[in-house]
Amino acid sequence: MKKTCKLCWGVSVLLLAGILAMGYMFVIRGNVTESADGRTAIILQPGERDLVLAEMRAFLEGVQTITEGLVEGDMNSVADAAKKIGMANAAGVPVTLMAKLPLEFKTLGMATHKAFDALSLEATDMGDGKKVLAQMAEILNNCTTCHSTYRLESASKK
Ligand code: HEC
Repeated sequence: MKKTCKLCWGVSVLLLAGILAMGYMFVIRGNVTESADGRTAIILQPGERDLVLAEMRAFLEGVQTITEGLVEGDMNSVADAAKKIGMANAAGVPVTLMAKLPLEFKTLGMATHKAFDALSLEATDMGDGKKVLAQMAEILNNCTTCHSTYRLESASKK
């Protein structure tokens, strides 16, 4: 135990640095670049971009149904629509795609799915339309915040 293995230490430090760098790239930074309009562009494969955009259109459809349900006082429809775009809908995103998304994007995305679950619960439990509408307003803040920060680009377009 007296002799320290300098090579072993060297290799360990290099490996650790490698792991930390990969963790940073895949968990925190994502596959991003600057874009001309000032937003951060996330570079995805065309199929991955399609998947994220399809999720987005599901968000907007959900918001439409929820709004209509609130106007008509149909809380079952509100609860159903919100549930559909809740956390259950977030599952099934491939790890390879996850790795390309910045941490802030993932956090905001998950928070949005969770908020729709909470909205669904409120609509089911209390059915207080005013409260649900207030939750909807909060959620729309997530939409606009993320849209003003990020855009998606196809890797093949470059
Ligand atoms: C975590 C980030 C994030 C959140 C949260 C988010 N979006 Fe998006 N959304 C994006 C990005 C990025 C794009 C692509 C924008 C671009 O490339 O210019 C997008 C695109 C869209 C599109 C266009 C879809 C298409 O087919 O082109 C719609 C509609 C949309 N979002 C609706 C919503 C709604 C409604 C919400 C909130 C309920 C929401 N989004 C929340 C990031 C987000």
